Amino acid sequence: MKNSFPKLQSSILDTIGNTPIVRLQKVVPPGSADVFVKLEYFSPTGSYKDRMALAMIEEAEKRGDLRSGMTVVEYTGGSTGSSLALVCAVKGYKFKVVSSDAFSQEKLKTMRALGAELFIVPSEGGKITPDLVPRMIEQAKKFAESQETYFTYQHRNKDMVKGYEKMGLELLKQVEGPIHAFCGGVGTAGMLMGVGKALKEAKSPARIVALEPATSAVISTGVAGSHRIEGIGSGFIPPILDKNYYDEARAIDETEARQMARRLAKEEGIFVGTSSGLNVVGALQLAREFGPGHTVVTVAVDTGLKYLASDLYEL
Ligand SMILES: Cc1ncc(COP(=O)(O)O)c(C=O)c1O
Repeated sequence: MKNSFPKLQSSILDTIGNTPIVRLQKVVPPGSADVFVKLEYFSPTGSYKDRMALAMIEEAEKRGDLRSGMTVVEYTGGSTGSSLALVCAVKGYKFKVVSSDAFSQEKLKTMRALGAELFIVPSEGGKITPDLVPRMIEQAKKFAESQETYFTYQHRNKDMVKGYEKMGLELLKQVEGPIHAFCGGVGTAGMLMGVGKALKEAKSPARIVALEPATSAVISTGVAGSHRIEGIGSGFIPPILDKNYYDEARAIDETEARQMARRLAKEEGIFVGTSSGLNVVGALQLAREFGPGHTVVTVAVDTGLKYLASDLYEL
């Protein structure tokens, strides 16, 4: 990456990916492995979801499932929706999106700003309860019944894994020496599966660790519950999660995740959302277990700017 200026690109879509990676300086306790964080908030909508939105649309175009004049339909907490709205805006597709008031106002407004037509499913007091995502899915399915629609259906869409495999390949180039562990929170599991697949296929020794909210640890305990970490812990095991591409699942405490997001901003200048705080809590656990001389990698999923209207940064 030395002396490399970003080249002139023909559209914003060409700027997706190739994000920077940094070493955490202050939040890593002594006696731990090095912890590196890939800063996905450098992507156009400020989230790694740009990678999957582009892959889902372009793979559907290649198969002929999505054609000019069609409307794309999706349900989303708002990150996937913002990324899909951006890709649809550039490519000229209409985008109809189902979301909820459980998700941040910034994300809902971003989708509208990028031209999406929004339908809101009411939540129980702003909480992500186990029934919320299934209710959003049912509504999206109804919209997708009309002719000339293409439902990207994120929890069942394997195209996204392709988009995230590139993230794994970038990590292999960016990290000098072996990656001993990689962890990340699971929503659709697209990111973890893409990176896990790329690392395992490259014969990396990395232990791939799925993270989830402790109060809705469906993968590790089978018990669903409510929480307020947007994007992960959907209340069911995502169909894309494949045992071949991860080694272990861990439950992480939400309060610790929130505190870590605030510490990352104040101590490291890394300004992110709640799920990124959770990723770093998981990475620090692994770093303590692996110890000095090892490398643990995780991801800053999105920017803290998406959470300013929530209480994450209300101190
Ligand atoms: C903020 C945030 N963090 C983490 C995730 C989880 O990513 P994935 O769906 O690839 O498992 C999502 C997905 O929606 C998200 O929006």
